[in-house]
Amino acid sequence: MKNKFVGIMYSATLLIVACASSRNAMAQKAVSLKDVFKNDFVIGTALNATQIEEKDPKAALLVPQQFNTATPENIMKAEVIHPQWGTYQFDLADKLIAYGKKNNIKINAHTLIWHSQLPQFVRNIQSVDSFKTFFKNHITTVAGRYSGKVFSWDVVNEALNEDGTMRQSIFLDKLGDNYVTEAFRLAQAASPNTELYYNDYNNEQPAKRAGCIALIKKIKQAGVRIDGVGIQGHWHAGKIPLKEIEESIIQYTALGIKVMITELDIEVLPRNVEGADVSQRMKEDPSMNPYKNGLPDSVQQQLASDYEALFKLFLKYPGKVTRVTFWGVDDGQSWLNNWPVKGRVNYPLLFNREFKPKPAFYKVIALKKIEQE
Ligand code: XIL
Repeated sequence: MKNKFVGIMYSATLLIVACASSRNAMAQKAVSLKDVFKNDFVIGTALNATQIEEKDPKAALLVPQQFNTATPENIMKAEVIHPQWGTYQFDLADKLIAYGKKNNIKINAHTLIWHSQLPQFVRNIQSVDSFKTFFKNHITTVAGRYSGKVFSWDVVNEALNEDGTMRQSIFLDKLGDNYVTEAFRLAQAASPNTELYYNDYNNEQPAKRAGCIALIKKIKQAGVRIDGVGIQGHWHAGKIPLKEIEESIIQYTALGIKVMITELDIEVLPRNVEGADVSQRMKEDPSMNPYKNGLPDSVQQQLASDYEALFKLFLKYPGKVTRVTFWGVDDGQSWLNNWPVKGRVNYPLLFNREFKPKPAFYKVIALKKIEQE
């Protein structure tokens, strides 16, 4: 009898301990974007070299907790990975692959063909034949090395003007307007099992979108594979083009390809530059840096409701919007602290400079809680 009593007490104690420890585990397990949206789309971030090398302990903790896909912010661009004719620097990109493997993070490689961040030697190439050789070698070598190691490639970035015509770039100049199709053909040959995307900013806007659709159709008509289109998503607080984004999701997916938001951030500071052309710059001026001592609550709330509206829209199209990638982990990392004006204090992301979730994070997360109830 006594033994039975002791046994019951023991089991009850175990149960209490078990409950308590599972409560603790739950309390400790942070709410995570990638878990909350696991049935909807993957959640990505741009990673810089410091983060890839895990030199920042806070980022090293937060990234694998929140994100299941990542895009290199700069280290796979031509100026870094291919600095001289025939010379490649693969160290950081190789580290990114290892980082992704270790942390279960799929890599979207960025980017093979882009007019910006090109090494000087490319701009110096005079003959069309030499330029063709560079074009082929670059795509074949870089895409070939990471074949089977990256999930997807932004094959061509920003080939279009705002009116939907082809941008006047060194690629258009030297190779003519079939160069986009040729880039996809070469990428497909070098990396046959990798998803291949076209990526641009403002391609949710009607005129640019029409040009983008024509470009995608042209690639497909040539019998070349394109799997998706990236809408970068560099938008402005209080001015998110929700209607145009929704129309774009509908029209792009009608072509039989995936849509993703590839570089999401929301600008809260004043600027005259629309879009995300990295070559555009504005003068430094204190009036352009109004929140250097902190973000006013009204702007914080605006940012939160903008993010909420965006995610609500993405959730309307499950299976169509396949990925949402933020252009950075935390506000401190964002390129918008230095573009288009240098040295500003910006607040465009879901995590603040201390890597803590902002009100926008909780608004976005709450959308799923409401849905589940
Ligand atoms: C930006 C990076 O974030 C910066 O660090 C760099 O100085 C310039 O490029 N569109 C793109 C990205 O496709 O590659 C750009 O990234 C932002 C605009």
